[in-house]
Amino acid sequence: MRIYKTKNYDEMSRKAANIISAQIILKPESVLGLATGSSPIGTYKQLIEWYNKGDLDFSQIRSINLDEYKGLPADNDQSYAYFMRHNLFDHVNIKSVNTFIPNGMEADVEKECSRYNAIIRSMGGIDLQLLGIGNNGHIGFNEPSDSFAKETHCVDLTENTIQANARFFSFIEEVPTQAYTTGIKNIMQARHILLIASGEAKADALYEAVYGPITPHVPASILQLHDEVSVVADEAALSRI
Ligand code: GLP
Repeated sequence: MRIYKTKNYDEMSRKAANIISAQIILKPESVLGLATGSSPIGTYKQLIEWYNKGDLDFSQIRSINLDEYKGLPADNDQSYAYFMRHNLFDHVNIKSVNTFIPNGMEADVEKECSRYNAIIRSMGGIDLQLLGIGNNGHIGFNEPSDSFAKETHCVDLTENTIQANARFFSFIEEVPTQAYTTGIKNIMQARHILLIASGEAKADALYEAVYGPITPHVPASILQLHDEVSVVADEAALSRI
């Protein structure tokens, strides 16, 4: 695991965007595993800036997102499908047929999970997986639990996650209570993992993920077993390390 310490969120975003750009330049047909949340917004902004300067080409890139709220249609402004269009896809030349996100409106859990797992398999693996980290150590929507979930599944969100994500909704009652997420096996099979974290609220989770015991109660701790993990985090998020 390589840890890059940055001064603040902006520097974290530039560093993360650098790593993603290198991946795109070295392998223009890369499969990128993408994340949502406030952590990657600055990274995506930086990538868009470099794209606008003519330094990046997304025309052969395929992307697969980690997760989606169950019950939110893709045009709901809190859905992760909307987030990705708004924060990245609409601003670069990635082809929409090459972008994949779980379908939050599919009520048949088994059907949606096997559809999504088949897509991941058909891509031949993820080259670079971008990850944020939840305050409770979750990655994607893999919440703390008694075992690591392997592939795409439907989760009941924890109270902690619902509270943390309530800031994006007008009322806490509007926060979906379930989500589709790729599993730990899907994430661990990525060739390179890039975890980003900013702010003091992430300090405990990041410490547990990097130095704590490997346990499904801190899902991000499994990353200690992956050979190619880059953690890019600011001083506040690394304050316990
Ligand atoms: C959500 C997402 C995660 C994300 C986490 C942290 O629960 N499903 O992928 O990493 O929130 O979000 P933020 O970056 O806003 O702190």
